[in-house]
Amino acid sequence: MNDRKKQEQLTRRNFLKMGIGALGAVALLEITGVSLLYMQPRSVEGAFGGIVEAGRVASFPLSSVTEFVNGRFYLIRAEEDGFLAVYHRCTHLGCTVNWQANENRFFCPCHASEFDIHGDVQNPPAPRALDTFAVAIEDGIVYVDTSGPQKRGEFAAEQLVYA
Ligand code: FES
Repeated sequence: MNDRKKQEQLTRRNFLKMGIGALGAVALLEITGVSLLYMQPRSVEGAFGGIVEAGRVASFPLSSVTEFVNGRFYLIRAEEDGFLAVYHRCTHLGCTVNWQANENRFFCPCHASEFDIHGDVQNPPAPRALDTFAVAIEDGIVYVDTSGPQKRGEFAAEQLVYA
């Protein structure tokens, strides 16, 4: 092998090494970026997983249901005047329930479970009432803590939160 060929091979080798090194660096950066994303706190204020400011008490009429899509809950102001926040996840297999105002019910499109305005099961297969989120009212503002749904068998008056 003459000197020129040796030099050419070395150059190719060096080029390949540099290429592999660069790819490794890019992969490392991607892995680091993805890891940092996963390590971020999951509870973001104002979104599902955190505390959501729903609005002023006076902006929710009695017997109303207001959907908070990003918070994944419905805020109910019952006819008794108290507030209740229910998770939009069906207690059967987890599909998203819809509020049907004309029928005055939550309806699950997957297997046709129905729930009344308090989230109580009216039609199975859902085994229990819709889960709730903690509600707090401070200075006339309703806050819903979506960090952890609370299971319940059925609605009880003590679950309502009053201003
Ligand atoms: S998931 Fe809602 S009824 Fe089955």
